[in-house]
Amino acid sequence: MSIKSRKVVLSAIVASLAMSSAAFADADKDLLAQAQGIFKPLPTFDEMQKVKKVTDAQIKLGQALFYDPRLSADQVQACNTCHNLATYGVDNQSFSKGVTGGFGGRNAPSVLNSSLFIAQFWDGRAKDVEEQAGGPMLNPAEMAMPNEAAVEKVLRSIPGYQPMFDAAFGKSANNVNFKNATAAIGAFERTLLTPTRFDQYLRGDVNALNKEEKAGLKAFIDVGCVACHTGVGMGGDQYQKFGLVDGPYWKFTGSKKPDEGRFEVTKSDADMNVFRVPGLRNVARTYPYFHDGSVWSLEKAVEIMGQAQLGQKMKAKDVKSIVTFLNALTGEVSAQARTMPILPAAGPNTPHHDHHK
Ligand code: HEC
Ligand code: HEC
Repeated sequence: MSIKSRKVVLSAIVASLAMSSAAFADADKDLLAQAQGIFKPLPTFDEMQKVKKVTDAQIKLGQALFYDPRLSADQVQACNTCHNLATYGVDNQSFSKGVTGGFGGRNAPSVLNSSLFIAQFWDGRAKDVEEQAGGPMLNPAEMAMPNEAAVEKVLRSIPGYQPMFDAAFGKSANNVNFKNATAAIGAFERTLLTPTRFDQYLRGDVNALNKEEKAGLKAFIDVGCVACHTGVGMGGDQYQKFGLVDGPYWKFTGSKKPDEGRFEVTKSDADMNVFRVPGLRNVARTYPYFHDGSVWSLEKAVEIMGQAQLGQKMKAKDVKSIVTFLNALTGEVSAQARTMPILPAAGPNTPHHDHHK
């Protein structure tokens, strides 16, 4: 080849490279625009305040209560026991062991970002985090307090809580009560948002995700995961049957005890095995997967989704690529939230186990 013709070939290659990188840039922009139509970045603190106004004093009290084991019958178990903020708001167990030693029949979902969902629990039986917070304290399979009055008695026995309730809810004779306690826990939970590079991406920074992650995002959209995992939580905004296209779901998960899901709440046949679609933020850290914690590998969970929800055996390449994208959804848990506060000291009437009596 002459020098001259070599030059022609070379410039042709350069030209085609330039074109393809321009084409890449266009494809990148298209993907971003598509993603922006499907997902939403996390709200700012001010946007959250518009949804529900919470004060610093309420958040501070809620954080103390979240970490306080004295709200359980054995004075050992706190919200943080099962929703450990050092491990992305979960306990990484299939089922969680309650105070009385028994296990509930469902996997503990993360408390991170959960305030953004349409409803709480796998079956959506609580309307928001405030309503939800009352459940575990009184659930015999969880913190096992006998009733609301028993919780209030404990809170009133700890002198340091009175000024915290005053600051959070205004001074009044009965402000140390169950309702205010759950409102404060809810206020704290509303701060548990975990920003990621994906949020930067959705705000328009096309390079906040790398090439492999963008390929995974594209596969996630093209394969059809976005029929259900959409919005700010990448899920959490609708109810769907597990085993929608191919089922029953336990054919794939090997679950021993089928779960009726939302049917338990509505008693409507259409809700049999229907669950609130879980959010996928931090999903790489919230194993094991599904409402019964039956699957430990994220690859396997994605494969099962392909089959049960979309009726397709996904290509190994797509599964891998989607998992790469899902890993980019692991966000930042604020140091403030995951630092256990100093709790107020017990008073003379605070329950305790005295092993000398
Ligand atoms: C013994 C373990 C355990 C303890 C203690 C516990 N939880 Fe849970 N939590 C669970 C389980 C299991 C579920 C799912 C139950 C279901 O869906 O039926 C759950 C669900 C939730 C949810 C719903 C999240 C979502 O995505 O729907 C929130 C929020 C939550 N818990 C907050 C709390 C708070 C606040 C406390 C303390 C007052 C607490 N939990 C104590 C195990 C626990
Ligand atoms: C038709 C709705 C639908 C589609 C489509 C769908 N999902 Fe899901 N997804 C769900 C529901 C419902 C659950 C909860 C199932 C359960 O545990 O009962 C779920 C659970 C998951 C979980 C487990 C999350 C956890 O915290 O346990 C992952 C991971 C997941 N989906 C990823 C995907 C991926 C990837 C795709 C595309 C291949 C996809 N999903 C498609 C509805 C859907």
